[in-house]
Amino acid sequence: MTYQPRAGAAVHVRAPGKLNLALSVGRRRPDGYHPLATVFQALSVYEELTAEPADDLTITVSGAQADLVPTDGTNLAVRAARLLAERVGIPSGVHLHVHKGVPVAGGMAGGSADAAAALIACDALWDTGIPRGELVELAAELGSDVPFALVGHTAVGRGRGDLLTPALTRGEYHWALGLRTAGLSTPEVYATFDEILGGASDEPTVDRALMAALASGDAVAVGRALTNDLQVAALELAPDLAETLSVAQDAGALGVLVSGSGPTVAALGRSRHHALALAAAMTASGATDSVLCASGPVPGARLTTETSDRDRLATGPTRGDRS
Ligand code: C5P
Repeated sequence: MTYQPRAGAAVHVRAPGKLNLALSVGRRRPDGYHPLATVFQALSVYEELTAEPADDLTITVSGAQADLVPTDGTNLAVRAARLLAERVGIPSGVHLHVHKGVPVAGGMAGGSADAAAALIACDALWDTGIPRGELVELAAELGSDVPFALVGHTAVGRGRGDLLTPALTRGEYHWALGLRTAGLSTPEVYATFDEILGGASDEPTVDRALMAALASGDAVAVGRALTNDLQVAALELAPDLAETLSVAQDAGALGVLVSGSGPTVAALGRSRHHALALAAAMTASGATDSVLCASGPVPGARLTTETSDRDRLATGPTRGDRS
Protein backbone atom coordinates (compact mmCIF):
# COMPACT_ATOMS: atom_id res chain seq x y z
CA MET A 1 0.00 0.00 0.00
CA THR A 2 1.29 3.50 -0.79
CA TYR A 3 0.85 5.59 2.31
CA GLN A 4 -0.91 8.90 1.75
CA PRO A 5 -1.27 10.92 4.97
CA ARG A 6 -4.66 12.55 5.19
CA ALA A 7 -4.48 16.19 4.25
CA GLY A 8 -5.89 18.96 6.38
CA ALA A 9 -7.55 19.25 9.69
CA ALA A 10 -7.30 17.52 13.00
CA VAL A 11 -9.53 14.61 13.94
CA HIS A 12 -11.53 14.72 17.18
CA VAL A 13 -12.75 11.66 19.08
CA ARG A 14 -14.75 11.30 22.28
CA ALA A 15 -14.52 8.09 24.33
CA PRO A 16 -16.51 7.24 27.46
CA GLY A 17 -15.51 5.95 30.88
CA LYS A 18 -17.20 2.86 32.25
CA LEU A 19 -18.70 1.27 35.31
CA ASN A 20 -18.82 -2.43 36.05
CA LEU A 21 -22.39 -3.06 37.18
CA ALA A 22 -21.28 -6.57 38.13
CA LEU A 23 -17.72 -7.83 38.40
CA SER A 24 -17.27 -11.49 39.21
CA VAL A 25 -13.59 -12.46 39.46
CA GLY A 26 -12.21 -16.00 39.22
CA ARG A 27 -8.95 -17.54 40.34
CA ARG A 28 -5.72 -16.02 38.98
CA ARG A 29 -4.62 -17.68 35.71
CA PRO A 30 -1.05 -18.80 34.96
CA ASP A 31 -0.61 -15.66 32.78
CA GLY A 32 -1.33 -13.46 35.81
CA TYR A 33 -4.77 -12.33 34.63
CA HIS A 34 -8.06 -13.27 36.29
CA PRO A 35 -11.03 -14.73 34.44
CA LEU A 36 -13.93 -12.28 34.64
CA ALA A 37 -17.65 -12.24 34.13
CA THR A 38 -18.56 -8.58 34.11
CA VAL A 39 -21.27 -6.23 32.90
CA PHE A 40 -19.91 -2.95 31.57
CA GLN A 41 -21.95 0.21 31.18
CA ALA A 42 -20.42 3.17 29.31
CA LEU A 43 -21.05 6.46 31.13
CA SER A 44 -21.32 10.09 30.02
CA VAL A 45 -17.90 11.05 31.37
CA TYR A 46 -15.56 11.47 28.44
CA GLU A 47 -11.99 11.62 27.31
CA GLU A 48 -11.66 14.07 24.38
CA LEU A 49 -8.78 13.27 22.03
CA THR A 50 -7.48 15.31 19.09
CA ALA A 51 -5.07 13.85 16.52
CA GLU A 52 -3.13 16.12 14.15
CA PRO A 53 -0.64 15.26 11.42
CA ALA A 54 2.96 15.48 12.72
CA ASP A 55 6.39 14.07 11.92
CA ASP A 56 6.84 12.39 15.31
CA LEU A 57 4.55 10.64 17.76
CA THR A 58 3.89 13.05 20.65
CA ILE A 59 1.17 13.64 23.23
CA THR A 60 -0.02 16.42 25.51
CA VAL A 61 -2.64 16.07 28.24
CA SER A 62 -4.98 18.59 29.89
CA GLY A 63 -7.95 18.46 32.25
CA ALA A 64 -8.46 17.07 35.74
CA GLN A 65 -5.36 15.35 37.20
CA ALA A 66 -3.50 15.74 33.89
CA ASP A 67 -0.22 15.92 35.81
CA LEU A 68 -0.69 12.27 36.86
CA VAL A 69 -0.74 11.02 33.26
CA PRO A 70 2.57 9.96 31.63
CA THR A 71 3.39 11.66 28.32
CA ASP A 72 6.13 9.24 27.26
CA GLY A 73 5.97 5.96 25.36
CA THR A 74 4.09 4.26 28.21
CA ASN A 75 0.99 6.41 27.63
CA LEU A 76 -1.77 4.09 26.41
CA ALA A 77 -2.86 6.46 23.62
CA VAL A 78 0.74 6.65 22.35
CA ARG A 79 1.00 2.85 22.51
CA ALA A 80 -2.29 2.58 20.60
CA ALA A 81 -1.09 4.91 17.83
CA ARG A 82 2.22 3.05 17.54
CA LEU A 83 0.55 -0.37 17.48
CA LEU A 84 -1.89 0.69 14.74
CA ALA A 85 0.92 2.19 12.63
CA GLU A 86 3.03 -0.96 13.01
CA ARG A 87 0.09 -3.21 12.15
CA VAL A 88 -0.76 -1.38 8.93
CA GLY A 89 2.90 -0.68 8.08
CA ILE A 90 2.98 3.11 8.02
CA PRO A 91 5.01 5.77 9.91
CA SER A 92 3.45 6.67 13.26
CA GLY A 93 3.71 10.48 12.97
CA VAL A 94 0.87 12.14 14.86
CA HIS A 95 0.39 14.65 17.63
CA LEU A 96 -2.22 13.55 20.13
CA HIS A 97 -3.89 15.80 22.67
CA VAL A 98 -6.04 14.28 25.42
CA HIS A 99 -8.42 16.33 27.53
CA LYS A 100 -9.30 14.22 30.55
CA GLY A 101 -12.82 13.95 31.89
CA VAL A 102 -12.59 10.45 33.37
CA PRO A 103 -10.91 10.20 36.79
CA VAL A 104 -7.27 9.04 36.64
CA ALA A 105 -6.66 5.60 38.26
CA GLY A 106 -10.30 5.65 39.37
CA GLY A 107 -11.53 2.25 38.19
CA MET A 108 -13.42 3.87 35.29
CA ALA A 109 -11.00 2.96 32.50
CA GLY A 110 -9.91 6.48 31.54
CA GLY A 111 -6.59 5.27 30.11
CA SER A 112 -8.41 2.58 28.15
CA ALA A 113 -10.75 5.25 26.75
CA ASP A 114 -7.66 7.20 25.60
CA ALA A 115 -6.33 4.11 23.81
CA ALA A 116 -9.68 3.46 22.11
CA ALA A 117 -9.92 7.13 21.10
CA ALA A 118 -6.39 7.06 19.67
CA LEU A 119 -7.21 3.95 17.59
CA ILE A 120 -10.32 5.59 16.11
CA ALA A 121 -8.58 8.94 15.56
CA CYS A 122 -5.41 7.57 13.95
CA ASP A 123 -7.42 5.17 11.81
CA ALA A 124 -9.34 8.16 10.45
CA LEU A 125 -6.31 10.50 10.19
CA TRP A 126 -4.13 7.92 8.43
CA ASP A 127 -7.06 6.44 6.48
CA THR A 128 -5.70 2.97 7.22
CA GLY A 129 -8.66 0.96 5.95
CA ILE A 130 -8.15 -1.57 8.76
CA PRO A 131 -11.28 -3.69 9.30
CA ARG A 132 -13.27 -2.90 12.43
CA GLY A 133 -12.74 -6.43 13.79
CA GLU A 134 -8.95 -5.98 13.62
CA LEU A 135 -9.22 -2.67 15.42
CA VAL A 136 -11.02 -4.46 18.26
CA GLU A 137 -8.23 -7.08 18.32
CA LEU A 138 -5.61 -4.32 18.60
CA ALA A 139 -7.67 -2.84 21.42
CA ALA A 140 -7.50 -6.13 23.35
CA GLU A 141 -3.70 -6.19 22.94
CA LEU A 142 -3.51 -2.77 24.58
CA GLY A 143 -5.55 -3.64 27.69
CA SER A 144 -8.46 -5.65 29.01
CA ASP A 145 -10.88 -2.68 29.08
CA VAL A 146 -9.93 -1.10 25.74
CA PRO A 147 -12.33 -3.15 23.54
CA PHE A 148 -15.26 -2.01 25.68
CA ALA A 149 -14.22 1.64 25.33
CA LEU A 150 -14.47 1.13 21.55
CA VAL A 151 -17.83 -0.62 21.68
CA GLY A 152 -19.61 1.26 24.50
CA HIS A 153 -23.29 0.92 25.47
CA THR A 154 -23.78 -2.11 27.76
CA ALA A 155 -21.89 -5.36 27.27
CA VAL A 156 -21.01 -8.55 29.07
CA GLY A 157 -17.24 -9.06 29.29
CA ARG A 158 -15.64 -12.46 29.66
CA GLY A 159 -12.04 -13.70 29.45
CA ARG A 160 -9.89 -10.84 30.79
CA GLY A 161 -12.91 -8.61 30.24
CA ASP A 162 -11.98 -8.20 26.57
CA LEU A 163 -14.40 -10.76 25.06
CA LEU A 164 -17.59 -8.77 24.66
CA THR A 165 -21.21 -9.60 24.00
CA PRO A 166 -23.58 -6.64 23.61
CA ALA A 167 -26.37 -6.69 26.21
CA LEU A 168 -29.97 -5.74 25.67
CA THR A 169 -30.95 -2.97 28.05
CA ARG A 170 -33.77 -0.48 28.47
CA GLY A 171 -33.77 2.90 30.07
CA GLU A 172 -31.21 5.41 31.21
CA TYR A 173 -29.39 5.07 34.51
CA HIS A 174 -28.31 8.07 36.55
CA TRP A 175 -25.24 7.88 38.72
CA ALA A 176 -23.49 9.96 41.34
CA LEU A 177 -19.76 9.24 41.38
CA GLY A 178 -17.70 9.85 44.49
CA LEU A 179 -14.06 10.47 43.51
CA ARG A 180 -10.91 10.10 45.55
CA THR A 181 -7.80 12.06 44.59
CA ALA A 182 -5.43 9.20 45.46
CA GLY A 183 -6.08 6.46 42.89
CA LEU A 184 -5.67 2.71 43.35
CA SER A 185 -3.33 0.52 41.30
CA THR A 186 -5.31 -2.15 39.44
CA PRO A 187 -2.57 -4.85 39.79
CA GLU A 188 -2.36 -4.10 43.52
CA VAL A 189 -6.13 -4.45 43.94
CA TYR A 190 -6.08 -7.80 42.11
CA ALA A 191 -3.13 -8.97 44.25
CA THR A 192 -5.03 -8.02 47.41
CA PHE A 193 -8.08 -9.88 46.07
CA ASP A 194 -5.84 -12.97 45.65
CA GLU A 195 -4.67 -12.71 49.26
CA ILE A 196 -8.17 -12.33 50.68
CA LEU A 197 -10.17 -14.59 48.35
CA GLY A 198 -7.52 -16.85 46.80
CA GLY A 199 -9.99 -19.73 46.47
CA ALA A 200 -12.42 -17.96 44.15
CA SER A 201 -14.01 -20.04 41.38
CA ASP A 202 -12.48 -20.75 37.96
CA GLU A 203 -15.71 -19.94 36.17
CA PRO A 204 -17.21 -16.66 37.28
CA THR A 205 -20.76 -16.06 36.07
CA VAL A 206 -22.95 -13.06 35.44
CA ASP A 207 -25.97 -12.69 37.70
CA ARG A 208 -29.18 -13.40 35.78
CA ALA A 209 -31.16 -11.07 38.01
CA LEU A 210 -29.00 -8.15 36.82
CA MET A 211 -29.42 -9.05 33.15
CA ALA A 212 -33.21 -9.37 33.58
CA ALA A 213 -33.36 -6.06 35.43
CA LEU A 214 -31.37 -4.32 32.65
CA ALA A 215 -33.52 -5.90 29.93
CA SER A 216 -36.69 -4.61 31.56
CA GLY A 217 -35.27 -1.22 32.53
CA ASP A 218 -36.03 -1.81 36.22
CA ALA A 219 -33.61 0.57 37.99
CA VAL A 220 -34.66 -0.58 41.47
CA ALA A 221 -33.77 -4.20 40.59
CA VAL A 222 -30.54 -3.08 38.89
CA GLY A 223 -29.60 -1.26 42.09
CA ARG A 224 -30.22 -4.39 44.16
CA ALA A 225 -28.13 -6.55 41.79
CA LEU A 226 -24.96 -4.40 41.69
CA THR A 227 -21.94 -6.51 42.76
CA ASN A 228 -18.17 -6.22 42.67
CA ASP A 229 -15.82 -8.98 43.86
CA LEU A 230 -12.94 -6.48 43.91
CA GLN A 231 -14.74 -4.21 46.37
CA VAL A 232 -13.43 -6.04 49.42
CA ALA A 233 -9.86 -5.62 48.13
CA ALA A 234 -10.39 -1.92 47.31
CA LEU A 235 -11.77 -1.41 50.84
CA GLU A 236 -8.77 -3.18 52.32
CA LEU A 237 -6.43 -0.75 50.50
CA ALA A 238 -8.65 2.32 51.00
CA PRO A 239 -10.77 1.75 54.16
CA ASP A 240 -12.25 5.27 53.96
CA LEU A 241 -14.33 4.13 50.98
CA ALA A 242 -16.67 2.37 53.43
CA GLU A 243 -17.92 5.74 54.64
CA THR A 244 -18.56 6.97 51.08
CA LEU A 245 -20.55 3.82 50.35
CA SER A 246 -22.67 4.17 53.49
CA VAL A 247 -23.30 7.91 52.99
CA ALA A 248 -24.67 7.20 49.49
CA GLN A 249 -26.70 4.24 50.78
CA ASP A 250 -28.17 6.32 53.63
CA ALA A 251 -29.04 9.09 51.15
CA GLY A 252 -31.38 6.64 49.40
CA ALA A 253 -29.29 5.29 46.51
CA LEU A 254 -30.92 2.36 44.69
CA GLY A 255 -27.54 0.63 44.95
CA VAL A 256 -23.91 1.54 45.61
CA LEU A 257 -20.61 -0.07 44.69
CA VAL A 258 -16.96 0.55 44.06
CA SER A 259 -16.33 0.92 40.32
CA GLY A 260 -13.99 -1.77 38.94
CA SER A 261 -10.74 -1.78 40.92
CA GLY A 262 -11.76 1.52 42.55
CA PRO A 263 -11.53 3.89 44.24
CA THR A 264 -14.47 5.65 42.52
CA VAL A 265 -17.76 4.93 44.30
CA ALA A 266 -20.89 4.79 42.12
CA ALA A 267 -24.36 5.39 43.54
CA LEU A 268 -27.45 4.76 41.41
CA GLY A 269 -30.19 7.38 41.60
CA ARG A 270 -33.92 7.07 40.81
CA SER A 271 -33.59 9.98 38.36
CA ARG A 272 -31.09 12.56 37.18
CA HIS A 273 -32.32 14.86 39.93
CA HIS A 274 -31.92 12.14 42.56
CA ALA A 275 -28.36 11.43 41.38
CA LEU A 276 -27.60 15.13 41.92
CA ALA A 277 -29.01 14.83 45.45
CA LEU A 278 -26.82 11.79 46.11
CA ALA A 279 -23.77 13.70 44.89
CA ALA A 280 -24.70 16.61 47.17
CA ALA A 281 -25.00 14.22 50.15
CA MET A 282 -21.56 12.75 49.39
CA THR A 283 -20.05 16.22 49.12
CA ALA A 284 -21.70 17.44 52.34
CA SER A 285 -20.42 14.43 54.29
CA GLY A 286 -16.84 15.18 53.30
CA ALA A 287 -16.47 11.48 52.51
CA THR A 288 -15.27 12.12 48.94
CA ASP A 289 -12.69 14.48 47.49
CA SER A 290 -15.04 15.45 44.63
CA VAL A 291 -18.17 14.24 42.87
CA LEU A 292 -19.47 13.86 39.32
CA CYS A 293 -22.88 12.99 37.94
CA ALA A 294 -23.19 10.85 34.82
CA SER A 295 -25.68 8.69 33.00
CA GLY A 296 -25.49 5.60 30.85
CA PRO A 297 -25.44 3.72 28.66
CA VAL A 298 -23.72 5.86 26.00
CA PRO A 299 -21.92 4.86 22.75
CA GLY A 300 -18.24 3.91 22.55
CA ALA A 301 -15.37 5.95 21.09
CA ARG A 302 -16.47 7.93 18.04
CA LEU A 303 -15.46 10.77 15.82
CA THR A 304 -17.04 14.06 16.78
CA THR A 305 -16.13 15.85 13.50
CA GLU A 306 -15.40 14.93 9.89
CA THR A 307 -17.63 11.89 9.96
CA SER A 308 -17.27 10.15 6.64
CA ASP A 309 -19.48 7.29 5.48
CA ARG A 310 -16.79 4.79 6.45
CA ASP A 311 -16.51 6.32 9.92
CA ARG A 312 -20.26 6.21 10.37
CA LEU A 313 -20.10 2.50 9.64
CA ALA A 314 -17.27 2.12 12.12
CA THR A 315 -18.91 3.96 14.99
CA GLY A 316 -22.62 3.35 14.44
CA PRO A 317 -24.79 0.85 16.32
CA THR A 318 -23.94 -1.93 13.84
CA ARG A 319 -20.55 -3.08 15.00
CA GLY A 320 -19.78 -5.57 12.28
CA ASP A 321 -16.56 -5.88 10.34
CA ARG A 322 -16.42 -2.97 7.89
CA SER A 323 -13.89 -4.54 5.52
O1 C5P B 1 -5.25 -5.47 30.90
P1 C5P B 1 -4.78 -4.33 31.72
O2 C5P B 1 -3.40 -3.88 31.34
O3 C5P B 1 -5.74 -3.20 31.83
O4 C5P B 1 -4.65 -4.92 33.20
C1 C5P B 1 -3.94 -4.24 34.20
C2 C5P B 1 -3.63 -5.22 35.31
O5 C5P B 1 -4.82 -5.61 35.99
C3 C5P B 1 -3.00 -6.53 34.86
O6 C5P B 1 -1.60 -6.42 34.77
C4 C5P B 1 -3.41 -7.48 35.96
O7 C5P B 1 -2.58 -7.32 37.11
C5 C5P B 1 -4.78 -6.97 36.36
N1 C5P B 1 -5.88 -7.70 35.69
C6 C5P B 1 -6.16 -8.99 36.09
N2 C5P B 1 -7.18 -9.67 35.48
C7 C5P B 1 -7.93 -9.09 34.53
C8 C5P B 1 -7.66 -7.77 34.11
C9 C5P B 1 -6.62 -7.09 34.72
O8 C5P B 1 -5.49 -9.55 36.96
N3 C5P B 1 -8.93 -9.77 33.98
